[in-house]
Amino acid sequence: KKTVAILISGGGSNMVTLVDSMLNDPGHPGRPCLVLSNNADAGGLTKAAERGVATAVVDHRPFGKDRAAFEAELVKPILNAGADVVCLAGFMRVLTAGFVSQFEGRMLNIHPSLLPKYKGLHTHARALEAGDDRHGCTVHEVTPRLDDGPLLGQAEVPVLPGDTPEDLAARVLVQEHRLYPAVLARYLRGEHAMLRLS
Ligand code: GAR
Repeated sequence: KKTVAILISGGGSNMVTLVDSMLNDPGHPGRPCLVLSNNADAGGLTKAAERGVATAVVDHRPFGKDRAAFEAELVKPILNAGADVVCLAGFMRVLTAGFVSQFEGRMLNIHPSLLPKYKGLHTHARALEAGDDRHGCTVHEVTPRLDDGPLLGQAEVPVLPGDTPEDLAARVLVQEHRLYPAVLARYLRGEHAMLRLS
């Protein structure tokens, strides 16, 4: 099996769906080897430990603006765990080209918009402000440009009258939990064609 490290910053609901998809399917091509957070208070750490997955924390704050120094520490537990593939799942730190290049072609991210629309933050509010009637989420391969890189999968949701950003975030998150495990399993089997869920 290929070993998968998952990077989180918060609640880790996407991480849980990835871990459970691997642990609950004996024929899955992947095995979770590490859940790594930049935030010691991330709720996802407990959920990973409950599932018997190794966890680690590298706090970004002592490094201030020095992203390279932070990343020099961040990479250590990933290398120690021998991860074949790295999944960003609600990991809220921007990674430099130097870090990304170490995992070229084997790092995935989930982003809460229909990329290339709405890279960066506040995607749900921006979709509402634009008056979009469709919104959704994207899994893509990570390249040095933020929220860029080859698209591996997308799932759409409708935008409904009266939606708040929170309503939309919740509707999109349901689809994230379907999309990311499906894309990861395909990816580990070498299928890189775009998956569209509706
Ligand atoms: C998810 O909606 C994910 O798409 C988003 O953060 C949330 C994390 O939730 N990621 C980003 O915004 C990346 N810039 P989770 O911790 O419950 O998986």
